[in-house]
Amino acid sequence: MKGLLTSLFIFLLFSGAASSQTLKSSAEYRKVLMGTAVRAYALPIDKRYRNTLAQNFNKITPENDMKMARVQPTEGVFTFAKADSVVEFARKNSMLIHGHTLVWHQEMPSWVERYRGNAPALEKILKSHIQTVVGHYKGKVQYWDVVNEAIERHGYRNTIWYDTLGKDFIRRAFIYAHNADPAAKLIYNDYDIATENQKSKKVLSLLSRLRKAGTPVCAVGLQMHISENGINYGSFRRMIQKYASLGLEVHITEMDVKIKKADEKTTVRSLEKQKVIYKKIARICAESPACKSFTTWGFTDKYTWIPGFTGGRYHKPLLFTESYARKPSFYGVIDGFRKAQPMDKR
Ligand code: G3I
Repeated sequence: MKGLLTSLFIFLLFSGAASSQTLKSSAEYRKVLMGTAVRAYALPIDKRYRNTLAQNFNKITPENDMKMARVQPTEGVFTFAKADSVVEFARKNSMLIHGHTLVWHQEMPSWVERYRGNAPALEKILKSHIQTVVGHYKGKVQYWDVVNEAIERHGYRNTIWYDTLGKDFIRRAFIYAHNADPAAKLIYNDYDIATENQKSKKVLSLLSRLRKAGTPVCAVGLQMHISENGINYGSFRRMIQKYASLGLEVHITEMDVKIKKADEKTTVRSLEKQKVIYKKIARICAESPACKSFTTWGFTDKYTWIPGFTGGRYHKPLLFTESYARKPSFYGVIDGFRKAQPMDKR
């Protein structure tokens, strides 16, 4: 039987049928949602962007179009058109939607800053923003990054939200979101919390306190913006189990693996290292019952934040080239899901 399967696979491989492999089909096989971040402006102008997106992903996150500065640029004036176009694309292509993000210290509209120090007024802003945005997408957005990056290694990050409203703003933000759409799955999202360190320890205790207080937080989002040095994979497995022990789902929400700009020979080596990293992380997610989705922060090197953020020193962090060819990292994700030990994912 095994011989027959092997020859069938070889036939499929050389007949090109295997090339019809898609990221979402390999992930679905392991009961993992395959997600990516999307830029509204690229949808109407780039056919290959749309096609590659529709073929390979079943969950999408607006990279920037749902951020506070984009949807409420002026106090009390909500502008949803661009975010709506991403939601519309997702619904047309039977994709789930991951709303990003309701409360963050970046991409805040300038008018918010004037409420620094005025707790009652800022609380009203917080509540109204969350209730209006979540209410607008009620029944359409299945996941929300409610609070993003509120913790640092030493404890709470000093932001207008924490400095003015105190640490309990996090709990209240989740309650406002839950009241606006009780069916949505609410996530605390952050970076550098996928392995055991000072910061993930603080996030674990925050989430434990929130859960004990009955806060409607149901998942943790691990951003996973990493380099070609990879991560401590044993620690990653343990951290997933620690979050799961709190009754939380784990979502990989923003993965990319930046590689240093270098000569061609070095770049080929870096792309192979990148493939192994994506493979290992996909496999660990597939083998962890609590890990429910695997999302990359964009999917083509044509649209990524990395070069701009790193002054051009790093690039090519994703799964498809600028011209939408499948990179070694694409096959790394496929291999990771395929070689994962079967796991009973509830
Ligand atoms: O669209 C405008 C363009 O019209 C203008 O000419 C240009 C000049 O500044 O700016 C463009 O907007 C930029 C936008 O990315 C679109 O590319 C913003 O300035 C820039 O601030 C914005 O950066 C985004 C960043 O979050 C801040 O919001 C990145 O694309 C986005 O990838 C990044 O994503 C964050 C997650 O939301 C949270 N986790 C970390 C992650 C990386 O920082």
